[in-house]
Amino acid sequence: MGRYGRAYTISNVLLAIYVTAFCYFNREKLKLFFNGDLDFSAAKLMDISNTEYPPGPTAEPTSLPSHINEVGFQELVDNFPLWSPKFIIVGVMKCGTGAAHTFLGNHPNAVPATAEAYFFNKDKNYEQGFTYYRKFFLRVGHKQQPYVHYEKSPTYYRSLTAPPRMKEMNETLKVVNVVCDNVKRTLSRYLHIKTHTDDGHFSHNHLSLIGQTLEEFQVNLRNTIRTFGAFLEDVKNNEGDGTIEGLIKALSYRFKHKMRPFGIRATQDKIELILSDGFYAVFHKYWQQFFPDDQLLVVDGGQFLKTPWEPMVEIQRHVGLSERINSSSFTFRDGMDVPCFIDAQENVNCLPEQKGRSLHKSLDMDVVRALHELYRPFDAYFAQKVLHRSPFQWNYGLEAP
Ligand SMILES: *[C@@H]1O[C@H](CO)[C@@H](O)[C@H](O)[C@H]1NC(C)=O
Ligand SMILES: *[C@@H]1O[C@H](CO)[C@@H](O)[C@H](O)[C@H]1NC(C)=O
Repeated sequence: MGRYGRAYTISNVLLAIYVTAFCYFNREKLKLFFNGDLDFSAAKLMDISNTEYPPGPTAEPTSLPSHINEVGFQELVDNFPLWSPKFIIVGVMKCGTGAAHTFLGNHPNAVPATAEAYFFNKDKNYEQGFTYYRKFFLRVGHKQQPYVHYEKSPTYYRSLTAPPRMKEMNETLKVVNVVCDNVKRTLSRYLHIKTHTDDGHFSHNHLSLIGQTLEEFQVNLRNTIRTFGAFLEDVKNNEGDGTIEGLIKALSYRFKHKMRPFGIRATQDKIELILSDGFYAVFHKYWQQFFPDDQLLVVDGGQFLKTPWEPMVEIQRHVGLSERINSSSFTFRDGMDVPCFIDAQENVNCLPEQKGRSLHKSLDMDVVRALHELYRPFDAYFAQKVLHRSPFQWNYGLEAP
């Protein structure tokens, strides 16, 4: 063995010892961070480091940012099971996540986060670690023990980073997704953007790209449905095997690689992004790679307007809350399109009518038909092949009078 060979061998041994010790220490730190409840095996650490996602708060923080003083690091670690969310409502924007949230607010044990955290899907939030996330769970208000903390951020459902990061936080976390008729969702989404452009939440530029008025939006929508339909046909035949199954597979690949029609940069047409947000099957199959089916609940948000107790009972069962919210909790008032909640003090609280905003607006019949045609195979596949349930009764705008 030459001079350098020997040094090389020694340094290799030292390196191996160092790596082993480093991994061991980090593993202990991770365990500590989670109060030792989770088994962070070496294999699991490997899994985590092999993903394409940036390392998350499990390895951080080793010290507290100076601006955080309401909770000490050790306290954060010790109390993780006490404050961390036990379930998360992940979407879908404009499908009734607000209604679910409002009704759950009446459950004596359900403690909502103080705001939508966008923690798992926005890197700038996630990189601040659980010291940041914890701030959403500091208040329990008038709730009773046992506290069941939860969070709602309606864009998690279509995030590439949210599922692996949530799994890393808590493997047994319960996830709730509220889906709905895509035709109604498309309309609600437009009206939402328009309303919130007026109050400064969205830029005027964004609105002008999709349509300043509902009429203009529909003109653009007609064009998008045509070009998008042709694009999907292309993907189906060239990247898939000509079947809907093959198309979903090809789209899943495109979703994971931030390609059209999912990547914000890769998708020129902003209306196409609104439409692809409705490919629930693609997103749900991705979630299934991280969580078993019994942790992933999908409810039909369309039911919140007529039979809100049905999805509410499903949600309470799924997340392990007592069934305090049931059909006796709701009432309907003459002339109102939205259900009202009867709280413990017998007060009647109605959803803001604005929540049913789209009820008073509609899309032209040709647009309604074209959208239903676009989504029908996706929705059928989602119900039958992904969720193994009966088909959704989604026929917004086509209902018998
Ligand atoms: C993880 O989530 C499950 C299910 O909600 C909950 O029972 C458990 O306490 C959580 N673990 C931690 C460490 O918070
Ligand atoms: C609803 O729950 C309450 C208790 O929280 C119970 O008294 C009532 O009978 C339930 N109603 C129905 C229709 O199950």
